[in-house]
Amino acid sequence: MKKYIEPRRYLVNCSSRSLPHIFTDVLVIGSGAAGLRAAIDAATTCRVIVLTKDDQLAGSTQHAQGGIAVVVGSDDSFEEHISDTLATGQGLSEPDVVRTIITEGPERFRELLEWGAEFDRTAAGDLDFTLEGGHSRPRIVHARGDATGSEIQATLCAAVRDNPNIRIMEHAFAVDLVTDGNLWRGALVHNEEGGVVLSWARATILATGGCGMLFRETTNPAAVTGDGYAMAYRAGAELQDMEFIQFHPTTLYVAGASRALISESVRGEGGKLRNDLGERFMQHYHPDAELAPRDVVSRAIITEMKRTQATNVLLDVTHMPPGAFAERFPTIYSICRDFDIDVTTSFIPVRPSAHYMVGGVKVDTQGRTSIDRLFAAGEVASTGLHGANRLASNSLLEALVIGHNAGRMAAAHAASNQEPVVRHAIIDDFQPERPGTLIVADVTNSLRALMWRYVGIERNSEDLAAAERAVDSWCSYVMAREFDTPEGWQLQDMLTLAKVITVSARRRTETRGVHCREDFPKISEQWQHHSSIRRKEDKRR
Ligand code: FAD
Ligand code: SIN
Repeated sequence: MKKYIEPRRYLVNCSSRSLPHIFTDVLVIGSGAAGLRAAIDAATTCRVIVLTKDDQLAGSTQHAQGGIAVVVGSDDSFEEHISDTLATGQGLSEPDVVRTIITEGPERFRELLEWGAEFDRTAAGDLDFTLEGGHSRPRIVHARGDATGSEIQATLCAAVRDNPNIRIMEHAFAVDLVTDGNLWRGALVHNEEGGVVLSWARATILATGGCGMLFRETTNPAAVTGDGYAMAYRAGAELQDMEFIQFHPTTLYVAGASRALISESVRGEGGKLRNDLGERFMQHYHPDAELAPRDVVSRAIITEMKRTQATNVLLDVTHMPPGAFAERFPTIYSICRDFDIDVTTSFIPVRPSAHYMVGGVKVDTQGRTSIDRLFAAGEVASTGLHGANRLASNSLLEALVIGHNAGRMAAAHAASNQEPVVRHAIIDDFQPERPGTLIVADVTNSLRALMWRYVGIERNSEDLAAAERAVDSWCSYVMAREFDTPEGWQLQDMLTLAKVITVSARRRTETRGVHCREDFPKISEQWQHHSSIRRKEDKRR
């Protein structure tokens, strides 16, 4: 059997010698909160290109519901937010990083207001704060009820639109990172016209978001397939805590419906979970009941589903007066209505699904990875803020803070590197392999089902070993193939990532935060540290 990960063969029915080259100071891969926030800062002194594999709204940011956790309430304090974040992180959050991100947050939030973002306010005109699991007080600011992400994305898109230093390339899929010695970085990019270009930059920022689509059940949109983790891994960057995947407890579960998120803030506003028999159960699992940390709620739901032999549990919001739910949660209300669920009289069928990658490409608070001139920000990055579990609504905060810092730092690196670029051919040994007999969608769907079943909410060594065997077997005939579409490259990235996650999950022989091992049900002192994984040898560069 072939070694499980091989360097990607780049070339797509052409020799690299004939590929067009484009140049910029800073290349940002990803147009969500982290990527756009980084671009805005980098563009104060540099030329910036932002790539997005679909349109600008393709990532998770556009879909964020609950809000941003940020200390802007007059009676809130940094210390309380820090303490809630550390408690949720179960011993693995980095205290210095937590402090930096939480204390820099209010400034990033005020900038959004300056750029025109509108957040919901009380009748008296003050910001309206909601509550989510793990927060000791209402601290989450939200926009248009449950459309916070769309408000942030629109604000950032407007801020980059008229910036002459920023060029957005839509439908531009980053196939892989490239390097010219140690000075220039960039990416091989498949563009809208179906051609491939080498996009060179003095500094590159990965802002490709998470990887929810690796799992059959997920809240994430289709573009969120984890390409950035795989690219960074192939490039030899250090990744950490890749076993920590957060499952959101409440995703709409109706045959034929997309797995739409039912925001935690619905429980923050009094929503109650009931099992299939109609009984409330969260009070038996945690003193904070429905507002316990997400890992606790997700596992309680799975236990109740098993106990009552049901496919889902129910979310009861019938306590809200008619009209109030629609006003506070217009997006969720309308999704439910599309499936004939009248939330004022019936319960919403929900179950957990993959939501957020807690681990990622290891970075410091300036977004620096272990590779010179390669930065990362947002969900693809791991700063150590979240530890073993993410406190609700801390990720948009992190994306904005680290995006800003990475943009500034990448611009500084670009300014200090003025060497001319060499027009390298990066690989010229393209040998078409087998003809295209592979049905990419079939392997992709099988992989997603496998990850959900064996590397999902509850894990054990037997299942993880079975997952690894299956992934290895698929890798043996998918990795060596030459693809010429994003779907094929994405599948290779998903397989790479599946292997990285499964190996990391197998190694961590304890239960901590979102990583639940049935065969190691307790926290272990031996595992009081981050896990780390990187590619050992780099044949390509
Ligand atoms: P994204 O916004 O996911 O953007 C990723 C970008 O990378 C996209 O532009 C995509 O096109 C691009 N990309 C990816 N791969 C490639 C490639 N190969 N080539 C080119 N481009 C590529 N967090 C909170 O704090 N509060 C919330 O209320 C909240 N609600 C959420 C609700 C939902 C339904 C989901 C899914 C997540 C939610 N989260 C929330 C999490 C949060 O939204 C994300 O962690 C955050 O938006 C990630 O931002 P990002 O910029 O890192 O990535
Ligand atoms: C939600 O609204 O429940 C999602 C919040 C988050 O992921 O932080």
